[in-house]
Amino acid sequence: MIFIDACYCRKTPRPPIWMMRQAGRYLPEYREIRKNHSFLEMCETPELVKEVTLQPIRRFGMDAAIIFCDILVPLVPMGLDLSYQEGEGPVIGNPIRTLDDVKALKDPDLPKEVGFLKEALKQTRAELDPDKALIGFAGAPFTLACYAVQGRGGKNFEVLHRWMFNEREAFDTLMSRLADMTIEYFRLQVAGGAQAIQLFESWGGLISAYDYLHRVFPHVQRILASVKDLGVPRILFIKGAGHFRNFLNLANAEVIGLDWTMPIEDTRRILGKNKAIQGNLDPSLLFASHDLIRERTLAMIEVNHGQPGYIANLGHGIHKDTPIPAVETFINTVKNYNPEE
Ligand code: CP3
Repeated sequence: MIFIDACYCRKTPRPPIWMMRQAGRYLPEYREIRKNHSFLEMCETPELVKEVTLQPIRRFGMDAAIIFCDILVPLVPMGLDLSYQEGEGPVIGNPIRTLDDVKALKDPDLPKEVGFLKEALKQTRAELDPDKALIGFAGAPFTLACYAVQGRGGKNFEVLHRWMFNEREAFDTLMSRLADMTIEYFRLQVAGGAQAIQLFESWGGLISAYDYLHRVFPHVQRILASVKDLGVPRILFIKGAGHFRNFLNLANAEVIGLDWTMPIEDTRRILGKNKAIQGNLDPSLLFASHDLIRERTLAMIEVNHGQPGYIANLGHGIHKDTPIPAVETFINTVKNYNPEE
């Protein structure tokens, strides 16, 4: 599988490609199914998860499928009241605000409470082309806490940001509890058939390098170290991590995902030859002309100078109103790439 080979820095005939958030709302066939089901209902129904996970693969032929779910789903068995509201995104009805709230979180029985995800992975793996990898995922503790403490989406998550300094014990305990859950969650996904796992740290770049290193990174390191024995490649994607890229090498990940603000060449120099890199086309480029998409995609590949361990992807999730022909151009440019030409 060229995706797995690239994760372990083995040579591949061309870079593998997939897109973050590839299973979702930019696809008309997703919106068609979504008309009849709530988002959470879809996540909990293995047949629908399989269908939606495979939709982008059928249409575009990416080298990896990411299982359809959401990073916030495992917060429900911990006792959080999660809903997705039209035009607003995720909302937590009972946000965590005190140490007592953290202590009141349940130790979830994941096999029982999110067994639907394991079943969905099993069914999807059975139907997915054997040359293509199935990726499982989880949210990193800081990003999960952004929603669990703030209560809803936003751009700055100032409630959590202040809470980190004012409620130190609550913050540190919450990070630890979320890390414990995430380790079990990854184990369940690999048991279901996930062949690689990605930790999404979408909001990690909001805080200083000092605070990330001292208060957050140890939890990320512990999660990834605790799943090493599963023998699947571990991908860490932190959005906006440029100011602390110097210590990403210590993350216990085989692959580091970059957003478009972190230059590939420079980051490769810092991380060295044994780390694979994933990313990092600006998702907004998919609104540009086909010529520009092609040009920038080729430039992104070539900046790796043929060094193994490169996975083509966007630098963050695909925008929901992205035109389908632009996605085709992006994917086909990578799939038709021939280093000899
Ligand atoms: O990558 C994939 O295609 C697999 C599925 C997936 C979803 N969410 C489905 C989804 C993945 C990997 C995620 C991750 C996720 N969810 C992250 C990390 C990555 C990132 O984008 O930063 C975050 C922060 C969330 C939280 C979340 N879930 C938000 C903010 C929203 C609403 C806005 C949005 O981006 O869609 C969701 C809902 C959600 N998750 C949808 C989908 C397809 C839309 C649900 C709908 O149909 O209305």
